[in-house]
Amino acid sequence: MILIKSERDLESMRPACGVAAKVLEQVAAFIQPGVTTAEVDQYAASLMKEYGARSAFLGYRKYPCHTCISVNEQVVHGLAGNRKLLFGDIVSVDVGVIYNGFIGDNARTVAVGGCSPAAQSLMDVTEKALYEGIAQALPGKRVIDISRAVQRFVEGHGYSVVREFVGHGVGRTMHEEPQIPNFVDGKSSPKLRPGMTLAIEPMVNAGRAGVKILKDSWTVVTGDGSLSAHFEHTVLVTETEPEIMTCPEKMPSSLKVAS
Ligand code: MF3
Ligand code: CO
Repeated sequence: MILIKSERDLESMRPACGVAAKVLEQVAAFIQPGVTTAEVDQYAASLMKEYGARSAFLGYRKYPCHTCISVNEQVVHGLAGNRKLLFGDIVSVDVGVIYNGFIGDNARTVAVGGCSPAAQSLMDVTEKALYEGIAQALPGKRVIDISRAVQRFVEGHGYSVVREFVGHGVGRTMHEEPQIPNFVDGKSSPKLRPGMTLAIEPMVNAGRAGVKILKDSWTVVTGDGSLSAHFEHTVLVTETEPEIMTCPEKMPSSLKVAS
């Protein structure tokens, strides 16, 4: 069953998404050559605490970190540790928080200092593919319209979409129905209705689509060692335009500190 959020639900969920977006924005700005992924994760944890939120990931199926930090050929679910980020790396940061009883989920890939034109192009295409998908989040369309738009855009640029991991409904729990694949499958696909809140999240590989999971049992890497990028927003289906919920402006003004 796909949960439809009431206006009252959304009044609680928008600030949760705002906090998730603000944390992601600040973490992205913190990333620079020489910092370790554990320092990035700790910084995210300290921001969540400052905002009165907590990680939606920590403890989920025993996940051990506050965020997912996936470097270069790592696709998603990378674990923070003593790895130092180097100039030219690309880092996918996934931030999910619980606040007001709701979850906001978002991710983006950033370059550490700078990166190769090939890496930049992969990131640009992945981010644009996310927006192609979001543009389909309209009442009367189906989930598969999102999937098709993402896949077409990505494959049109010579990259591939990951099959094993998908976007999802999100609300009081992190993974609600429906699943949102980034490719067209043969399955029946639910119709989109106002009040649905969707985490749309293309994971795009520069090379082949296949992935492997490392022995830490979490980190997903490309099978061919090629670079991978990941962008995600939590999006509300409305009567009119899709509403991107994970934007920093939706953070409650009471939490904003003078800087
Ligand atoms: N954004 C990811 C997802 O929606 C993050 C989950 S990481 C986990 O699935 F550790 F919590 F599983
Ligand atoms: Co997600």
